[in-house]
Amino acid sequence: MLTRINSRKMKIRRIFIIALLIFGVNSVSFAYTTTELMNGIALGAIIFTLALICLVCLVLLKTFKVMADMLLPKEEKLVIAAPVSELVIEPSEPKLSLWEKLLSLRPLAEEKNLVMDHKYDGIAELDNPTPAWFMWLFYGTIVFAFVYLLNYHVFKLGKLQDEEYAVEMTQAGVDQKAFLAKAANRVDENSVKLTADVGVLKAGKATFIQNCVACHGEHGQGIVGPNLTDEYWIHGGKINNIFKTIKYGIPDKGMISWEKQLSPKQMSEVANYIKSLKDTHPANPKASQGIKES
Ligand code: HEC
Repeated sequence: MLTRINSRKMKIRRIFIIALLIFGVNSVSFAYTTTELMNGIALGAIIFTLALICLVCLVLLKTFKVMADMLLPKEEKLVIAAPVSELVIEPSEPKLSLWEKLLSLRPLAEEKNLVMDHKYDGIAELDNPTPAWFMWLFYGTIVFAFVYLLNYHVFKLGKLQDEEYAVEMTQAGVDQKAFLAKAANRVDENSVKLTADVGVLKAGKATFIQNCVACHGEHGQGIVGPNLTDEYWIHGGKINNIFKTIKYGIPDKGMISWEKQLSPKQMSEVANYIKSLKDTHPANPKASQGIKES
């Protein structure tokens, strides 16, 4: 009796562990973010409760079975001593391979012992129940389906394919923008490109008004710094030259380096803005300096 109770205890513990595992796996497997993890845990708690209810049912069933065994009259088990010649010598248990042991399979050699005594159309049945592990797999699929249904269709915690696709596409858009912004910021005097993009020129103008007008004039006509609207350049009039002048400055001549104050993007914008000033003929231009470039 004691061993029976112990084995039952172990069984209950095993079922409890399985229920806990289901709880854990469910909590994590559907979680993509922390909030979803919380939802997953809530869902896991529900599943855990359901598993507990199942466990209680199983224990109750077992109890009923034990009670029924005790109350109902047992079949006569007394074996009247038979003459030795009539004793059926049980064939020794066939040796099970490791594989068969692991999967709790009955070996083929045992087949004749397993045949049940009813036949239908010459077909006999074997008393060879499905191994427990297989049944647990099967129950697992039911639990999974149940969790899946709750997760995706009842509580709608998880995202279905369409939604997942849409979310990923939005995220990809955000990432792409961030990447392009970064790429734009990686520009230097070698890679800077000439552009007439209105947005770029507008941003460049804003930077110019804020930082450069004191020395180059509101319209780039030149004050302390040279006229930026003519064809003459001291340090080169190509977009790369202008970018370089802005970036490193000509400290000896009063043109500071803007590398620290402006981002590469801002420098390329303002360089493009200066390029767009060519031939705008502002009032009171400063006399041209440097070399004429076409
Ligand atoms: C403190 C005055 C001052 C400020 C502010 C200033 N510059 Fe200059 N800049 C100069 C001077 C002076 C020169 C001429 C340097 C030389 O003679 O070599 C110059 C030269 C330049 C040149 C080269 C022109 C050529 O002919 O090669 C560019 C381009 C230029 N500045 C752009 C800018 C931009 C863009 C800003 C604002 C972000 C700016 N500068 C702000 C004083 C200034």
